[in-house]
Amino acid sequence: MTPLIIDTDPGVDDAFAIALAAASPEIDLLAVTTVFGNVGLAHTTANALRLLELCGRSEVPVARGADRPLVHPCPHRAADVHGMDGLSGQSGTLPEPTRGVVPRGAVDLMAALLNAATEPVTIAPIGPLTNIALLLATHPEVKPKIGRLVIMGGGLAGGNTTAAAEFNVWSDPEAAHRVLSGEDVPTVLVPVDLTHRCAVDAAWLDALAGGGPVAKGLSLLTETYRQHYRQHQGRDGLVLHDAIALAEVIRPGILRTAACPVAVECSFGPSRGATVADRRLAADPRVQTVQIAVDTDVDDLLAFVLGRITQGR
Ligand code: RIB
Ligand code: CA
Repeated sequence: MTPLIIDTDPGVDDAFAIALAAASPEIDLLAVTTVFGNVGLAHTTANALRLLELCGRSEVPVARGADRPLVHPCPHRAADVHGMDGLSGQSGTLPEPTRGVVPRGAVDLMAALLNAATEPVTIAPIGPLTNIALLLATHPEVKPKIGRLVIMGGGLAGGNTTAAAEFNVWSDPEAAHRVLSGEDVPTVLVPVDLTHRCAVDAAWLDALAGGGPVAKGLSLLTETYRQHYRQHQGRDGLVLHDAIALAEVIRPGILRTAACPVAVECSFGPSRGATVADRRLAADPRVQTVQIAVDTDVDDLLAFVLGRITQGR
């Protein structure tokens, strides 16, 4: 089994990622930590608790993390994409949580779990990287305990939030810079360049709605998100960015990767939050690289995600 911590800002696609992990026997879900992002921390935390309840996993500890970026104020949320509550205004359709957050914060909980771990732990950051930057800066001793970071974020040929920047990186570029360029932790980066090629369609969503209680519960959360893709991408479907990253956690190698150094633009020009991959330096042993997810068998990937979630309780 793979010990896993999910750091998340639920968020509709985060909801699918959490459900995918919860339904996967390969995964030992140690904790879910929350961060600001799609919506504010209060909502992302409440959503995480409700989603674990839906998945029958209320025993998994939830800890609150950062409610703001490391340095500069976060320009705005993504309520226009995910709804004011982060789940298309439908968070109330999820079960009331039977447990609250644990008293310690996200960074403390992650550090405690990593220090206690007897095998490498995977961390899946699928929101802004603020908690991860804080963890690595305040507890560098845990780095050898991290098997790998599997991060949903970045856009090498442009963004989804500005022309240059993907939302998670754009929300806290300084944190992304620290994690992607300043720490020697094995890292897979799953950028929108790949996730945008992996949209699910109406038939996939119909099959989801016909699944078990978890699948049906997720289906109720999608309308605002689906409307966003109809309006902005001219197609009826969803891009479940975070679930694609979690598929790599559960089935290592389902995404094909290439090693490359990644720099993050932290100036305040039009490229703020851009992730720049300099392939010319990939072979230089002195340069820190990350494994960038560049390709996948899309049909196989989406069938895997659907199958796992519809089998869920
Ligand atoms: O750009 C997509 C990412 O930003 C996803 O993690 C989505 O949930 C939002 O956080
Ligand atoms: Ca997210």
